[in-house]
Amino acid sequence: MNNYISENKDRFLNELLDMLRIPSVSADPKFKQDVLRTAEFVKERLSEAGTDKVELCETAGYPIVYGEKIIDPSLPTVLVYGHYDVQPADPYELWNSPPFEPVIKDGKIYARGACDDKGQMYMHVKAFEVMMRNNTLPCNVKFMIEGEEEVGSSNLATFVKSNKEKLAADVILISDTGMLANDTPSITTGLRGMSYLEVEVTGPNRDLHSGLYGGAVANPINILCQMIASMHDENNHITIPGFYDNVVELSEEERAEMARAPFSLEKYKKALDLSDIHGEEGYTTMERNSIRPTLDVNGIWGGYIGEGAKTVIPSKAFAKISMRLVPDQTSEEITEKFTRHFESIAPASVKVLVKPHHGGEPVVTPTDSVAYKAASRAYEETFGVKPIPVRSGGSIPIVAMFKSELGLDSVLMGFGLDSDAIHSPNESFGVFNYMKGIETIPLFYKYYAEMSR
Ligand code: BES
Ligand code: MN
Ligand code: MN
Repeated sequence: MNNYISENKDRFLNELLDMLRIPSVSADPKFKQDVLRTAEFVKERLSEAGTDKVELCETAGYPIVYGEKIIDPSLPTVLVYGHYDVQPADPYELWNSPPFEPVIKDGKIYARGACDDKGQMYMHVKAFEVMMRNNTLPCNVKFMIEGEEEVGSSNLATFVKSNKEKLAADVILISDTGMLANDTPSITTGLRGMSYLEVEVTGPNRDLHSGLYGGAVANPINILCQMIASMHDENNHITIPGFYDNVVELSEEERAEMARAPFSLEKYKKALDLSDIHGEEGYTTMERNSIRPTLDVNGIWGGYIGEGAKTVIPSKAFAKISMRLVPDQTSEEITEKFTRHFESIAPASVKVLVKPHHGGEPVVTPTDSVAYKAASRAYEETFGVKPIPVRSGGSIPIVAMFKSELGLDSVLMGFGLDSDAIHSPNESFGVFNYMKGIETIPLFYKYYAEMSR
């Protein structure tokens, strides 16, 4: 590791802990001031690290932090993307230490956002500082750090569309994904898209006594459960007509290549305390969670859920549903197909309403580009083994837009692990991973600049 990094390790960690103390939950308006404070924090740190033109770009929602260092317009430009917002920390009672009071225990930083994405985003700020102080920055850099990734990035989409010149670059660099293991680095080469929506089923016009009316009127919760259950068949295929129409099937060669990535079903089950796995017939677990589309209920409610019992047939039932999409499905198409299907299977005894939330398109990134090769060499140098390309099941909606609007491919240099439990209680990020990121990123710049010549 270079001297500057080892000498500044404690400070690099403490600065991250300071940022993790600010609860920047974008989904909950209660945290508005904290989200705004986090944007200021990132702006200040970027400025100290040596970027010019640092600014908060206002949007209809939370601001985008922008900063750049143009050393020579004839050199290539790397556009770094990350997000400073985090998921809600609920349920708080399941955290071993409070989510916004970060602690380092057994080599891991525990806090909401430790991995997703404050820890990973901040690696880039520190890697940039390292290159500035060591005088080794080999190309131009632009930083674009947003505060609404966890709620769909719709204002960033607008920003990208109207700031194409400002964002002109040669490649996008992102650390907001994971890798297979600390001794098996990987580079993410695909992300799933997303259609997210909410449904409402209405039965009678008021809550009813379940003895006086039970059996004679539709119970919207019962009906909603039946409707949801019917959307998977006995082979766990999704039953929405046309759902798979645009799904690109992988060739046998591509599937065989995927199957070479190390994976242990036993370890997988053990880590989740499952006695068996579940999923679409005909596909492996790795395929199910990356190259195949899904439909999942994220939350369902209605009726009485307080203490004790209350005998009632509720008037309404609700659910939040997400569908993960793969090439060449589009969020618009799938939201439409879902809506039409959901309305068509509703019995006449209820009324249904489908409310679309946000969407994002799936993306696959090239493995034969200069940028991919530079990233691969960088990991190989710091980890001692060549990273494996892996398609991920997660979504970062803006990545497909970077391609469609700016014409730019992204390199997804993630350093998180599945065991970091992002979005869950006790999210963590390894100190090893944080430092490895800070060490590997400057090597990406070095090889990218060299190989672009
Ligand atoms: N960083 C994650 C996405 C991710 C994690 C991709 C790990 C690959 C590996 C991102 O912050 C995220 O959580 N995205 C959301 C999408 C959004 C529209 C709420 C997701 O995937 O649920
Ligand atoms: Mn993220
Ligand atoms: Mn996330």
